[in-house]
Amino acid sequence: MTPVRTVATLRRQLDEWRVAGDTIALVPTMGALHDGHRALIRAARERTCRVVASLFVNPMQFAPDEDFTCYPRDEAGDIASFLDAGVDLVYAPGTRDMYPHGFATTVTPGGAGEGLEADHRDGFFSGVATVVLKLFMQTGADVAVFGEKDYQQLVVVTQMVRDLDLRIDIVPVATVREADGLAMSSRNAYLGGDDRQRAAGLFRILMETRGALDAGEPPDTAVRNAVRRLEEAFDAVDYLSLRDPVTLSAAERRAGAARLLCAVRLGGTRLIDNVAVTLPGGE
Ligand code: PAF
Repeated sequence: MTPVRTVATLRRQLDEWRVAGDTIALVPTMGALHDGHRALIRAARERTCRVVASLFVNPMQFAPDEDFTCYPRDEAGDIASFLDAGVDLVYAPGTRDMYPHGFATTVTPGGAGEGLEADHRDGFFSGVATVVLKLFMQTGADVAVFGEKDYQQLVVVTQMVRDLDLRIDIVPVATVREADGLAMSSRNAYLGGDDRQRAAGLFRILMETRGALDAGEPPDTAVRNAVRRLEEAFDAVDYLSLRDPVTLSAAERRAGAARLLCAVRLGGTRLIDNVAVTLPGGE
């Protein structure tokens, strides 16, 4: 399969499919495919006639001190995997196709785009929202699929679709995990030796915290205990926070469904993960 590089070629192909009555799903990726991406493609295939996967390592969502230059890249391998997974078209624009000379309009998400990741990754959600909006406009897809692993990203994109009246359905897909619970991520490739084993502690601590909440432990105590354990297990804890699952506003003092979100550092690698929890009290 030859990847499509330009918006004009992309639109020509997608217009043909639309005229034939086909619905289209978009799976946005930065490549370095793993089983988490394959689950996104499966979810897309179940919902529409055609699946378009984008492959673009978006420079706009990397801060200057982040891993843009060494982010894992294997275009030929990714294209083979896309084909194998049943993708109909791979859209792999170059940086100048996505951001032509003079490009000057960006999206800045407030609300769910503030705090958590945004406090530790300068410009991240503006970079994500801008490229995702461009991909939505370029493809005109009916459906787009995002993983719950990047939960704040999923909420930010859902908020953008609602706020800007975009005609696209966002489909969330559950996190795919390694046998020891580590959430699949392209950046797991950075984990060498001991760190790979230590990384699995993140999900374990999140699940044990969920268990403590289920057993009726007050949320502030459960979070305090979890932070202490995370600090022992990892080099640094960027945040551990209980949030409303829809708006991401603080949820520690509420009852019912919530999301426990976390980011830690292990050597030079940053790990994020999250789990659904139920907060005790209230009806
Ligand atoms: O989750 C990712 O891989 C990226 O943030 C996305 C959504 C493809 C935008 O570049």
